[in-house]
Amino acid sequence: MKIAVIGTGNVGSALSLGFIKAGHEVVFGVRNPDGDFKGKQLATAHRIPIHNIPAAAGYAELIVLSTPASAAGAVAASLGDVQGKIIIDTMNSAFNKHDHFSNTAHAVLASCNTVDVVKCFNTTGAENMANPVYNGKAIDMFVAGSSKKAKQAAIQLAKDIGFGEVYDFGGNDKFELIEQWAMCWINLAILQQQGRNLAFTVVKR
Ligand SMILES: NC(=O)c1ccc[n+]([C@@H]2O[C@H](COP(=O)([O-])OP(=O)(O)OC[C@H]3O[C@@H](n4cnc5c(N)ncnc54)[C@H](OP(=O)(O)O)[C@@H]3O)[C@@H](O)[C@H]2O)c1
Repeated sequence: MKIAVIGTGNVGSALSLGFIKAGHEVVFGVRNPDGDFKGKQLATAHRIPIHNIPAAAGYAELIVLSTPASAAGAVAASLGDVQGKIIIDTMNSAFNKHDHFSNTAHAVLASCNTVDVVKCFNTTGAENMANPVYNGKAIDMFVAGSSKKAKQAAIQLAKDIGFGEVYDFGGNDKFELIEQWAMCWINLAILQQQGRNLAFTVVKR
């Protein structure tokens, strides 16, 4: 799949490497392609093409947004025509709330012309995206959004990069809840100082 990663820091870089290893074509969309940006070394090492944001979005079938939450609406508005393209929103507004929206995915939906937006890869740390295996067992991922097409793509990508089950949180009405689920990881790992090598997985009987 042709994937544009916009926001190439901790999350964007970890996901990009996983996508490339799984055989996907990744391009970076950055603010200043000729300048310095997070992830530049990774781009050089793996020959990831670097474009401005609308050019990267124009190339891709699927766009991953991993910028600070406060930029969610502005970045989505800068993508250009993305009708029919899938957007995976990995952002959390926990410490960086958007002015007018309770979560980043609603800001994205309001700012661009695709309805195929899901939230995924927001509920765990970037280290777990780089390596989702604990004691030989893959940890779980979670996804929310009403677009079946986008959800299916996110589930496949999560499995491609090594996650185990991908649990469906529900539709767009669960965007806020899945950000709160991320906040549970942030609370335990960071605020309660359990450390970032910590992950959630679902057990059933
Ligand atoms: N870190 C985690 O473990 C983690 C886990 C789950 C979800 N998240 C969420 O994922 C998002 C990214 O987190 P991160 O830790 O990867 O952040 P990060 O390392 O600081 O990277 C942020 C990236 O966004 C770019 N950026 C910043 N402002 C921008 C703008 N106005 N327009 C376009 N690009 C912009 C930065 O570009 P430059 O390099 O040019 O500055 C950088 O590439 C956040 O919303 C965060 O809540 C983070």
